[in-house]
Amino acid sequence: MTTPAVPTESGRPRVVLGVSGGIAAYKACEVLRRFTESAHDVTVVPTAAALEFVGAPTWAALSGHPVSTEVWDEVHQVPHVRIGQEADLVVVAPATADLLAKAAHGLADDLLTNTLLTARCPVVMAPAMHTEMWEHPATQHNVATLRERGVLVIDPAEGRLTGADTGRGRLPDPAEIFAVCGDVLARGAGDGVRLDLAGRHVVVSAGGTRERLDPVRYLGNRSSGRQGYALARAAVARGAEVTLVSANVALPDPAGVKVVRVESTADMRDAVVAAASSADAVVMAAAPADFRPVNLSAVKIKKDLDGSAPSIELEQNPDILAEIAADRTRPGSVVVGFAAETGDDTGSVLDLARAKLARKGCDLLVVNDVSEGKVFGQEHNEAVILGSDGSALDVPRATKSVLAHRIWDRVAARLG
Ligand code: CTP
Repeated sequence: MTTPAVPTESGRPRVVLGVSGGIAAYKACEVLRRFTESAHDVTVVPTAAALEFVGAPTWAALSGHPVSTEVWDEVHQVPHVRIGQEADLVVVAPATADLLAKAAHGLADDLLTNTLLTARCPVVMAPAMHTEMWEHPATQHNVATLRERGVLVIDPAEGRLTGADTGRGRLPDPAEIFAVCGDVLARGAGDGVRLDLAGRHVVVSAGGTRERLDPVRYLGNRSSGRQGYALARAAVARGAEVTLVSANVALPDPAGVKVVRVESTADMRDAVVAAASSADAVVMAAAPADFRPVNLSAVKIKKDLDGSAPSIELEQNPDILAEIAADRTRPGSVVVGFAAETGDDTGSVLDLARAKLARKGCDLLVVNDVSEGKVFGQEHNEAVILGSDGSALDVPRATKSVLAHRIWDRVAARLG
């Protein structure tokens, strides 16, 4: 995963990596490496407690810069003001409950908290702590305060915590934190535009559903889920609360996203319908199987000795997109479909896509021309985004992240 670098006067984007004192501090080394290996100039500002977990020599060696926790080192350079002022991005990973509380209340008793007060660039915080501390009303209030002020707070992941316990509170995968930061940096510092999905709940479906035939076989398709995952990441970077309904995808969970895993189209339908009831936007990037076997064999289907193949009777699955578009529980919500089309005697790719947009009743339809087997499983995508208002936006070949942002641009414009 690479990050688009934003040029600055020094030629490299300047990133401040704040590290507060939690066990997940060791994972911040990986975040740091990803920044430095993709031409970012990183100043690490750990808290004194963070140095209990990972020592200053590690941060200095990995960043190539001296490391300080206090405002009293090199005072003539006024570091408590300069570091924040000069930054293009400040990311705090992990952010402890204590750090969130200090930041929410504007305390400034060490170099990191001073830096947070002087920074005018985008600020990303990746909290990590035990579930009880994360769920405590004090922490939730502090997070809400920071979000209101435009800080991008990435929800922690669920999973194994420091001890034997599990729950919400894990630091997301460092590569995924880095990906969110890359997105934020690439979008620049324009306030208001940057977090234009803040306070919005969006649902994205991704991957290909599987319809079981017997205990070992299924009907499936080639969808990798990459476009849906790129959409989820991009929405997090724009401040949204994101539910990702994921069918059989072998990709790491995007940071800050609630991932609901499903297998079949019926499972996906139930999960999408449930999440859509509180959603401002639903984007169906998945490839749900249109048909399923009428009967699921309880035993493995055996070969016939006479050499004949079995007949499998199929029935239609529900059309999730059409259902969501028809039953909008939230007035004004935006529904987006995808269509992988090939032209035929009845019309061009765009003719068929326009007819599909009308048939499905969605607001936007992202159309891929797959005439030559393009797109599947690749890093790049090209598409036309059709609107129910007759609009058509051509998105030339670019990363799936770029297409994701063009889609969210259209969604955000519709949400107003
Ligand atoms: N879709 C859905 N439920 C299904 C099948 C598809 O919600 N059972 C959604 C896909 O996620 C996509 C859109 O519908 O956003 C278009 O998918 P496509 O397979 O092109 O639609 P179909 O209705 O199956 O059209 P076709 O007959 O051309 O295959």
